[in-house]
Amino acid sequence: MSRSAHPAGPRHADVLPEGHYSAPAADLNALDEKVWSRTVTRDADGALTVGGIAVARLAEEFGTPAYFLDESDFRARCRAWADAFGPDADVFYAGKAFLSRAVVRWLTEEGLNLDVCSGGELTTALDAGMPAERIAFHGNNKTVAEIERAVGAGVGRIVLDSFQEIVRVAHIAQRHGIRQRVQIRVTVGVEAHTHEFIATAHEDQKFGIALADGQAAEAVRRALSLDGLDLIGVHSHIGSQIFDMAGFEVSARRVVQLLAEVRDEHGVELPEIDLGGGLGIAYTSDDDPREPHEIAKALSDIVTRECEAAKLRTPRISVEPGRAIVGPTAFTLYEVGTIKPLEGLRTYVSVDGGMSDNIRTALYDAEYSVALVSRTSDAEPMLVRVVGKHCESGDIVVKDAFLPADLAPGDLIAVPATGAYCRSMASNYNHALRPPVVAVRDGEARVIVRRETEEDLLRLDVG
Ligand code: LLP
Repeated sequence: MSRSAHPAGPRHADVLPEGHYSAPAADLNALDEKVWSRTVTRDADGALTVGGIAVARLAEEFGTPAYFLDESDFRARCRAWADAFGPDADVFYAGKAFLSRAVVRWLTEEGLNLDVCSGGELTTALDAGMPAERIAFHGNNKTVAEIERAVGAGVGRIVLDSFQEIVRVAHIAQRHGIRQRVQIRVTVGVEAHTHEFIATAHEDQKFGIALADGQAAEAVRRALSLDGLDLIGVHSHIGSQIFDMAGFEVSARRVVQLLAEVRDEHGVELPEIDLGGGLGIAYTSDDDPREPHEIAKALSDIVTRECEAAKLRTPRISVEPGRAIVGPTAFTLYEVGTIKPLEGLRTYVSVDGGMSDNIRTALYDAEYSVALVSRTSDAEPMLVRVVGKHCESGDIVVKDAFLPADLAPGDLIAVPATGAYCRSMASNYNHALRPPVVAVRDGEARVIVRRETEEDLLRLDVG
């Protein structure tokens, strides 16, 4: 996504440096509802509140940095996805985006299924009471121990990712005396990114079994021949933070083509297809994500059309949104520390977290928004780079943004849309203590993942 440099300098420079930023919002105190969770608003004093609680109280009670997750928004998004896809489709929340026992309970209550991709995620899901038959187990290199546990627990499906795994899962299932429901993950030849999709250079990656050279058809042949497996369908996941449905269109068409080939060769109509996750969210005001009902309609129209053309019964569709459910429901709250104005460049605003609680900016050049949330300000906008406290110059949380020029140490600022892939990818770099996740709902806040302590660090360090 390219954004134009702001033409005029509000402060510190007559001409602002090149960068990927839009002009500052007309009112820096305004909260764009696209990027903030649904119960976020400002109270009469100008402080940001979530679930009816002001950030100053949250900071006092839970400290900073911390992630605050808007539980009613999370639940509403689960329901919106489930309602949009209806009873003839399945929504699997992708736990890799963020998983905790509370989240598993919310998903269970709201009727969603769960995609896990490691033994740790599986343990969390089962421990919190997600029925095993509602769990899909993913991964390109599941260990034998993980497969044993998944089969033993009775997970609803295992998504097979390689020829070796087809045999491995079949053997383990046979040993358990069951036929394990499985899907085969295929690589459809579409690599989707925001606003674009590239139909080349796609087989060169570690996931799935390629459609193009007949490998996927061969995988189906083998899976159908093994007693331990009940092949229920085909799975495709094309990428992340996707806004354009064109990639899904190509993917669905190719998956349906494979189902037609399977029908012609084996006389079997596989009953399900999974189109994966990857739907985009708004990180900044420039992003325009689609609503779940639009996505559901687009996907089901594509699949229905392709199946009619191939004279196939329309399979049951499943999807695996992670980011689109949890991403917009949380923000990270930081306290402002040192502020360094660099004349002619920008002002570096250091916060008490950084790349250990949000690696996405450093890793993917991800864009985020930021706002002063402990108060409002009428000061003019100042171009800032929000950086962390780690020993690395790439430790950037928000690369280019505008904050009020009277920003001072001790102010609270918040970065919205950090619900997905921030806590789940958090690290202990520089022995940082990973921040807590606090769920806020109807005037109550409770810790669902506690802050790490120095004792936690020392407990692992056994000398
Ligand atoms: N299903 C499968 C098979 C996946 O591999 C993924 C994500 C999803 C579903 C969920 O995708 P979502 O709806 O959350 O985009 N760490 C990266 C994202 C990696 C996604 C990996 N797979 C990031 O922070 O952007």
